[in-house]
Amino acid sequence: MCGIVGFVGKKQASSILVEGLSKLEYRGYDSAGVAIIDNDHINVVKCKGRLKNLENKLSEHPLKGIVGIGHTRWATHGKPSDLNAHPHNSQDGTISVVHNGIIENYVQLREWLTSKGYKFVSETDTEVIPQLIEYFYKGDIVEAVMRAISKIKGSYAVGVICSKEPGKLVAVRKDSPLIVGLGKDEYYIASDIPAVLNHTRDIYLLNDNEFVVITKDGVKLLSEDKKEIKRDVYHVTWSANAAEKGGFDHFMMKEIHEQPKAIKDTMTSRIMPGKPITLDDIKITKEQIKNINKIYIVACGTAYHAGIVGKYVIEKLVRMPVEVDIASEFRYRNPIIDEKTLMIIISQSGETADTLAALREAKAQGARVIAITNVVGSSVSREADDVLYTWAGPEIAVASTKAYVTQLIAMYIIALFFAQHKGTISEEKMEEIKKDMLTLPIKAEEVLSNKDIIQEFAEKIYKEQDVFFLGRGLDYAVALEGSLKLKEISYIHSEAYAGGELKHGPIALIEDGTVVIVGATQGYLVEKMISNIKEVTTRGANVLAFAFEGSDEVSKAVDSVMYLPKVNDIFAPVLSVIPLQLLAYYISIKKGCDVDKPRNLAKSVTVE
Ligand code: M6R
Repeated sequence: MCGIVGFVGKKQASSILVEGLSKLEYRGYDSAGVAIIDNDHINVVKCKGRLKNLENKLSEHPLKGIVGIGHTRWATHGKPSDLNAHPHNSQDGTISVVHNGIIENYVQLREWLTSKGYKFVSETDTEVIPQLIEYFYKGDIVEAVMRAISKIKGSYAVGVICSKEPGKLVAVRKDSPLIVGLGKDEYYIASDIPAVLNHTRDIYLLNDNEFVVITKDGVKLLSEDKKEIKRDVYHVTWSANAAEKGGFDHFMMKEIHEQPKAIKDTMTSRIMPGKPITLDDIKITKEQIKNINKIYIVACGTAYHAGIVGKYVIEKLVRMPVEVDIASEFRYRNPIIDEKTLMIIISQSGETADTLAALREAKAQGARVIAITNVVGSSVSREADDVLYTWAGPEIAVASTKAYVTQLIAMYIIALFFAQHKGTISEEKMEEIKKDMLTLPIKAEEVLSNKDIIQEFAEKIYKEQDVFFLGRGLDYAVALEGSLKLKEISYIHSEAYAGGELKHGPIALIEDGTVVIVGATQGYLVEKMISNIKEVTTRGANVLAFAFEGSDEVSKAVDSVMYLPKVNDIFAPVLSVIPLQLLAYYISIKKGCDVDKPRNLAKSVTVE
């Protein structure tokens, strides 16, 4: 996730681009840059760090020109650095490009372009775009962009300028957002509406595979086969603040709704039907995997809950012993580690002090460390031996949602990668699992479309003092996460228990009206869960269960059920956590709490 902007008009572009970028910093902030055409030259200023650094650099090296593009980056390929920052230029410097998305076939394109004599200066996937455009350029930039785009696989919103056609800006999108702002004698492109709202409220919303050509005379929308497209102007009536949240009231709700895309992005180029799993930043060899005799998964908070899912899945698919630990416990308990130990560290921010300390402890004792993190270039990613990035984009709300589901996806990918190397599941089974996994984005959308049931339930129970969550197996892991979410943002006391533990103590707390949320998605455990449900309903509990569609036995046992579309049981947590996130959200709103910034909490816990 990154933010792109572009401008064509009569005013100086530089300050307009920077102002637009400032409204898109929520989409990424590890580096930023602008490229502006001055007569027949493209000048680029870009640098690592927040937009402030770019502003300082621009005040030292001001750029002149009335046509330009800008970018604020959230790194996926290549660490945050001056060189990896966008815009990226073609080899001869005549073409400059900003890009948001992921180019899946960049390795092949890079090799092909290298064989044609092109040299690359960055580690990004993006740099293939300007080089390809330069390769195809024969005097018509629109034609060259179209030819280059036809070679690219993946997701993109791209803005292009060319010094040989200095009054023009070309843009295109597929699976990444892009809008066009229509001012008076000036035009804009942007990843999101807030970037243009200070200048215009009239915009074109672009669809996939549509091209935009902007000159001082106006905007033309073109289809892939160069047919002109007519589009109605959309007039924005929201406030700038609401627009930044994509029309949602809070970042948390926006991020909950971004989960289908985040899931898809995290699987992109890693899980493909009929192809082995290949992971760019994981260098561990087949031999080294075979040598491992124990895995520790270590993390904090929500990331720790993703680790519990990881344990169940790795043990099931790879048949290796896995221990999950809370980082603050692990670092002080003198764990048994040697060079046959593998540690998997999970951290959204990659900067959590306890997690980092646990990583260092394990490395010092000879373990190999794989990091799962959302932040390219974070401390965890730099210190681990191997990294698997979750491509969730920046998570702003303190309560983690999309980072969690992508951590689950990362755990499945690692489990399948190990199973592939150790041969613990047949090729046929592997294909079946991958096929099912690839349906998760669409099924997550389906769950989101049923949120009314959750809202109604939230309205009934928001005054409760205590809520209990129950589950067995993977449902227990999700219960822990649901309970954490609820206490974090609604301040309701809640506990999660493994179903079988109920009779060992917690059942003493169940009385008339006690709210119990039950997970019953694991086929082989559903009967056991129904017994647990009966144990609490006989004592007067008010139960909301989540189960797969068609689980009639569950619906008969409870008052309220949230049905989830059927997937392989191992993937249930990806879907079942969504209603729990929504429940916490709706209760928090109803209670008037600060959803995005709950009391006493911080997004990144960099102190012990
Ligand atoms: O950045 P990390 O994933 O290392 O953060 C770990 C926890 O602090 C974090 O998951 C925390 O529990 C969240 N607020 C949960 O919503």
